[in-house]
Amino acid sequence: MGKRSLPAPILSQPTPELTAQVHDALLQWYRAHQRILPWRTSTNAYAILVSEIMLQQTQVERVLPKYQQFLAAFPTLVDLAAAPTSDVITVWASLGYNSRAVRLQSIARQVLTEFGGQIPASIDELLRLKGIGRYTAGAIACFAYHQQVATVDTNIYRVLHRIFLGLEHPEPRITTGQMFTFAEQVLPPGEAFNWNQALMDLGATICASANPQCARCPLQEQCQAYKDMSQYSLFPGGTVLRQLRKVAEPKTPYETKPFTSTSRYFRGRIIDHLRSLTTNQRITLADLGPILKPDYNQADAAWLLKLVQGLAKDGLLDFQADGIRLP
Ligand code: ADE
Ligand code: SF4
Repeated sequence: MGKRSLPAPILSQPTPELTAQVHDALLQWYRAHQRILPWRTSTNAYAILVSEIMLQQTQVERVLPKYQQFLAAFPTLVDLAAAPTSDVITVWASLGYNSRAVRLQSIARQVLTEFGGQIPASIDELLRLKGIGRYTAGAIACFAYHQQVATVDTNIYRVLHRIFLGLEHPEPRITTGQMFTFAEQVLPPGEAFNWNQALMDLGATICASANPQCARCPLQEQCQAYKDMSQYSLFPGGTVLRQLRKVAEPKTPYETKPFTSTSRYFRGRIIDHLRSLTTNQRITLADLGPILKPDYNQADAAWLLKLVQGLAKDGLLDFQADGIRLP
């Protein structure tokens, strides 16, 4: 078993009748309105792994072109494992969160050395891959191998919470860990693939975080959050939910900081610059500083060193006395 310990049971169970109605309504809606996405029609576990890592922090529209480009550059898991890491980081350009590129390649290498090149099909084995968490393990088991398993990301959490437990703000009823157990309990038999994809589509197109379109939602009749909103005269349409969110998520100083002053922004800028160099070409920190910040001076040297050390630790660059380059 390993990492997967079952959290405490949920207090309120939906009735079998309600659950069946939700299944029918959502699966029927999905058959008519599903988004046509290349990883949904693929049976290649490697391609599905690539899509899931890309989709972790990047929207579908931005993943689509990069997914094709990445698979053209690294058509198989063996190609990806054998490539220079600098090539993988270079092809990853524009997706952001570059350490995912390094992580994806290290997963491919581990699959090669520990699983004979075959991406495993069970959640427990998938969890042995460093950098794959419970969501991604569930997604690969279900989407690549059609296993009847639940998976929960932020969108699925929100949608299941609203349908069965009510509004997730200001106070969510259960934790993400408990939601995995709940999601297993409401999984429609034999339909895990379509169900999980349907929950994602509903979350992406109708049951949006701040502005759910309840008026055109196939689950309006069954949805607990919709009942709550009607009961408290919180008309669905966004305004009230957004206020609830504001109460639930007070702004922290981090969030109010402009993105262009965050370390994530400068980490991205550094890797962008290294991508623009020729193979094996290095740049010193003294030369890099003014490229990142026009007003760069000696007082910024410690800050830059720390950023570069962090990137080196994440495997995103090679750091030597004569400068840095992609690994
Ligand atoms: N996000 C994560 N996995 C996805 C999928 N298979 N389809 C759409 N969005 C996703
Ligand atoms: Fe989401 Fe509204 Fe549909 Fe409920 S009725 S699932 S809150 S869009």
